[in-house]
Amino acid sequence: MSLVIKKLTKQYNQHKSGLTDYSITIEKGVLGLLGPNGAGKSTLMKIIATISKPTKGTLFLDGEDIVANPDKIRKILGYLPQDFGVYPNLNAYEFLEYIAAMKGVGGSGLRKRIDLLLEGVNLTADAKRPIGTYSGGMKQRIGIAQALLNDPKVLIFDEPTVGLDPEERVRFRQLISDLADDCIIILSSHIVSDIETIADEVAIMKNGILLNKAAQPDIIKLVDGKVFEVLVSNDEIAGIRTKHQVIDTSRQKDKTRIRFITRTGQPEMGAIAVNASLEDAYLFLTQNNN
Ligand SMILES: Nc1ncnc2c1ncn2[C@@H]1O[C@H](COP(=O)(O)OP(=O)(O)OP(=O)(O)O)[C@@H](O)[C@H]1O
Ligand SMILES: [Mg+2]
Repeated sequence: MSLVIKKLTKQYNQHKSGLTDYSITIEKGVLGLLGPNGAGKSTLMKIIATISKPTKGTLFLDGEDIVANPDKIRKILGYLPQDFGVYPNLNAYEFLEYIAAMKGVGGSGLRKRIDLLLEGVNLTADAKRPIGTYSGGMKQRIGIAQALLNDPKVLIFDEPTVGLDPEERVRFRQLISDLADDCIIILSSHIVSDIETIADEVAIMKNGILLNKAAQPDIIKLVDGKVFEVLVSNDEIAGIRTKHQVIDTSRQKDKTRIRFITRTGQPEMGAIAVNASLEDAYLFLTQNNN
């Protein structure tokens, strides 16, 4: 399965574009979309989910034009929007039955599937309570469950881990890796560590433009050998900022530990080379370009 997107532009109005000339090919597996607020992650996901139409450009799923024929992808799509709303008076069972009816999913297996999904997102014990009484993270989990109702082959999760506690994040990761073998899964986040643990490939974007898309190790290679840490006194920090890209600072008694990407190729005196992370590469790409 492959989704081929070419020169996609979304112009919201005269002054505002969500995506500009965005081209990407997405294959089976988990793709993480990473980018700061306003990068165009939700815009891209809405267009793939056929909720929004592109201003220009083409999207082909296995050779089928999904702008001209949105039904092709809708049948096999699971989508969790960023602003997922729930019906507060329905309980989890009723809500999932309602969504199933809308998606045309039915049959004798439905009850079992709903049970399995509720188990998968750890909501079995709360399934009979109105969703309006759920916590934010529980609402998010019912959103994840509804996206999986029709056994989708293309799964789009816009900020799925928002509001999930660490335990539920692990559970979500497990759910995704169980599905990843024969689906296209696209998820967005601006939390690098979430993407790091789930995604096979990462697409880093900013201001509606794709900066880079590759397997995680290849993205990290961009900053390999350029990341250092050094312990300095506070009056040295400003000087380091002028020479290098400071990634992180942490106070340690009267000193500060600085993690930086060298711009000069020369590390500071006393700096030690450290292993580059996805976060280093992400900040390197998003803070330096555009
Ligand atoms: N309906 C709309 N009308 C006008 N501009 C919009 C609309 N939706 C999004 N935009 C603009 O398009 C750009 C991309 O927005 P988008 O929501 O796709 O970003 P995002 O990467 O999902 O950001 P976030 O991390 O905040 O969710 C932003 O500049 C945003 O202001
Ligand atoms: Mg968004």
